[in-house]
Amino acid sequence: MKLAINVDHYATIREARRSTEPEPVLAALLAEQAGAEGIVCHIRSDRRHITERDLRHLRGTIKTTLNIEMAATEEMKAIAREIRPDVVSLVPERPEELTTEGGLDVITHQAHLGPHIRELQEAGIRVSIFVDPDTEQIAVCHKLGVDMIEINTGAYADAESEADRDKALEDIIRSARRGDELGLRIHAGHGLDYHNLQPILEIEEIEELSIGFSIVARSAIVGIDLAVREMVSLIS
Ligand code: PXP
Repeated sequence: MKLAINVDHYATIREARRSTEPEPVLAALLAEQAGAEGIVCHIRSDRRHITERDLRHLRGTIKTTLNIEMAATEEMKAIAREIRPDVVSLVPERPEELTTEGGLDVITHQAHLGPHIRELQEAGIRVSIFVDPDTEQIAVCHKLGVDMIEINTGAYADAESEADRDKALEDIIRSARRGDELGLRIHAGHGLDYHNLQPILEIEEIEELSIGFSIVARSAIVGIDLAVREMVSLIS
């Protein structure tokens, strides 16, 4: 199973001070050196973290696959056509949300999504849809002609009881199988961390995981020893 790293939250740290560091593109290059096989980032309509500048730097620099998450709007489609990522992942977006809250409801929005997906594909971009683990939604993703789906693991990651977690895992397994039978490539992500990953790794149909927050959070902790030592050394 491949690992794709979402670098949004390096940009979140930068934007907390409207600063110039840390550079998400530098984190992306180091992630690739450490074994990541893809780089993911999410450009939001409020540009709260990743900006067009980041996209241009990432596109011009990384060696693996660039997957940009975005809403299915005209503004975002124009950005995709300019940047030409390898993959666009279509996600829903609610302005005040802390993070993507669920999969895109392709059943409700299929009339709008069909031409949107085709235009992206005609520009040479593979299209993925972030979708809840629901076989009816996945059947519509197939009908819409996407290249792959990313199954939302958020309900699994956030489950508060073992019973809820088992049910959420069953939903993911069933959805991955259905997507695979339909010939879709299967990715998964959201809320995955160092503790909840193992059962997901056992789902053979999943080709790639998209993980961001837990890795950025851990990097802030495991990196502090060196960061402090360097500053102490400068001071002394
Ligand atoms: N997949 C999608 C569609 C997302 O929106 C996100 C969060 O930006 C992720 C995966 C990664 O989730 P996390 O940051 O919780 O690992």
